[in-house]
Amino acid sequence: MLSGKGFKRLITIDHHITKEENLHPEATGEFTSLLNDLTLAVRIISREVRRAGLNDILGWTNTTNIHGEIRQKLDTYANEILKKAMSQGGHVCAFATEEDDEVTIVSSDKKSKYIILFDPLDGSSNINVNITIGTIFGIYKKLDIDKKVCESSDVLQRGRNLVAAGYALYGSSTLLVYSTGNGVNAFTYDPTIGEFLLSKSNMKIPQFGRQYSTNEGNAFFWDEKVKNFVDYLKTPNQDKRFPYDLRYIGTLIADMHRLLNYGGIYLYPANQKHPHGKLRLIYEVNPLVYILEQSGGIATDGKNRILDILPQQIHQRTPLFMGSPEEMALLNKFLNNTQTHN
Ligand code: AHG
Ligand code: MN
Ligand code: MN
Repeated sequence: MLSGKGFKRLITIDHHITKEENLHPEATGEFTSLLNDLTLAVRIISREVRRAGLNDILGWTNTTNIHGEIRQKLDTYANEILKKAMSQGGHVCAFATEEDDEVTIVSSDKKSKYIILFDPLDGSSNINVNITIGTIFGIYKKLDIDKKVCESSDVLQRGRNLVAAGYALYGSSTLLVYSTGNGVNAFTYDPTIGEFLLSKSNMKIPQFGRQYSTNEGNAFFWDEKVKNFVDYLKTPNQDKRFPYDLRYIGTLIADMHRLLNYGGIYLYPANQKHPHGKLRLIYEVNPLVYILEQSGGIATDGKNRILDILPQQIHQRTPLFMGSPEEMALLNKFLNNTQTHN
């Protein structure tokens, strides 16, 4: 018999969004409405993901995206649903997504002041084998809200300027994690009532963990310092934390969510196959790092803080190192040659 103790408080995501917006006296309710449109899209994508195999959603389309990747049906479906949901409220002036080559200008109305970036379906290689996939989003405001149409500078803002970011995970349950700069909260979807309910509030990444996460199949192509660091993590020493466990799902958002809960480090360095890294800066990495930093974590491209990078183009890639404060400090010693491992 269920006790009802699972949820400390019954707070829906709608209540939570409204409560957060009320912290800003100048708020107009537009942002609340924008996030509501977004959660609607996530609910629809979640419905199709949950029925994958029964509906006609698995498999490939005969189109490729700008990265040369063959689009899966679910990539295309999620992209279309998100674009439709985000265009209808009149709050969004432009969006950029992994699946579209160019920025789409949605509205030239002065009142439309938000820019939304998204990876509609993250973890495409896991779609057909029933492994966790997700959706990532980041939201900016126009740099000059009195201007009419958004310009490229509005879309190519530093991650530090994000006004909100989040992700949905279609895993053992559907989970939506988001932040508007006041901490990180997670909501679990209850399909029987059609609501996201607060399941974890004010999430904090542990100071350190015992896991590293990376596609180690690329190790041959890594820089020596990175190889050295990972070898160090795998070698026993007096500290019981070593050797670290390896966990890698290959869905960035799922690897990030585990990192947020258990701590440790995630790395996708540049390598000879991907000299600028593989992951895309503005719609994959920045939103995640915004959440991670809100929870007390740190992320760099090996030199600079990710959120300080000024993007030059929408599909730009970046190397990524992110994790708990202790592992990131250790990584820096290796990258700066103040510690080595032989
Ligand atoms: P997407 O499915 O949106 O194209 O993203 C794929 C990304 C990311 O989710 C994942 O962590 C990474 O690619 C996996 O890369 P490898 O297969 O090279 O490990
Ligand atoms: Mn992705
Ligand atoms: Mn994707």
